[in-house]
Amino acid sequence: MCMNLTFRQIKVFQAVARHLSYTQAAQSLHLSQPAVSMQVKQLEENIGLPLFEQMGKKIYLTDAGNEFFNYSQEITRLLDEADEVMESLKGIRGGKLSVSVASTANYFATRMLADFSREYGGVTISLDVTNRRGLLDQLINNETDLVIMGRPPRDLDLVTEPFMDNPLVVIAPPDHPLVKEKNIPMKTLQQETFVMRESGSGTRIAMQRFFSEQGVSLTTGMEMTSNEAIKQAVEAGLGLGIVSIHTLELELETGRIALLDAESFPILRHWYVVHREGKRLSQAAQAFRQFVLDGAGGTLLGK
Ligand code: PGA
Repeated sequence: MCMNLTFRQIKVFQAVARHLSYTQAAQSLHLSQPAVSMQVKQLEENIGLPLFEQMGKKIYLTDAGNEFFNYSQEITRLLDEADEVMESLKGIRGGKLSVSVASTANYFATRMLADFSREYGGVTISLDVTNRRGLLDQLINNETDLVIMGRPPRDLDLVTEPFMDNPLVVIAPPDHPLVKEKNIPMKTLQQETFVMRESGSGTRIAMQRFFSEQGVSLTTGMEMTSNEAIKQAVEAGLGLGIVSIHTLELELETGRIALLDAESFPILRHWYVVHREGKRLSQAAQAFRQFVLDGAGGTLLGK
């Protein structure tokens, strides 16, 4: 009865089972919602049992759905393992590398990948850029080889290796009165409004942790989902911002944004190259990991 099911149906089923929402599953797969419902319907027809049931607005896994979810996890794990073994047999050249980086790390990661691909021609690289929460989802679901992120969580089985400092600084428009001040005290910052990154951003978590450790409660204004938007908002005078120094190269060169000399700043963070413990890294992925740890062929600032 399961003979006609396709791997695509399994992938779609897993996404719906994880999110318990057709809409969210469709978003995560970059598919339309009707396409997702259709795949699930065909899978249920193949199996001959309903896998989800709807109660009110919510959907739930049926008993059959739960059982099938466990098997589907095992099927994808084995296929991933087969893929990893095949990749490692291809060697570095001809191999595949999938890297996901924090939105904030993308400012140097693209250059790093370009240098890597010059040195190791023939590797097919895919790069995904998302915030911290997105990266953790990808690690949990085994959807990427290597991740570049700030301060990985301790409660997941991850191999985490720091490779570069990531100072977070306070930014202001160049004509802001605090630009001329030295060692600006916390209580002065407390009177300012800050534009914030979205929830799920590592920068935002670091900023909140820092201010709560200092016993300072911040006034926050608008929330934005990218560093570019934060910088533009600061430039436009919507408030002060806190961003990684790595996002600022251009703005500091052109003088469109100024750094504030604030007490206890910068917030010291690090960048890590991360993979799941037990993950069989392809030779291409191993080469990239080493390339990053060795200073990425001179790409990295301060190296
Ligand atoms: P973010 O990540 O782009 O999610 O803010 C940066 C970080 O983790 O420091």
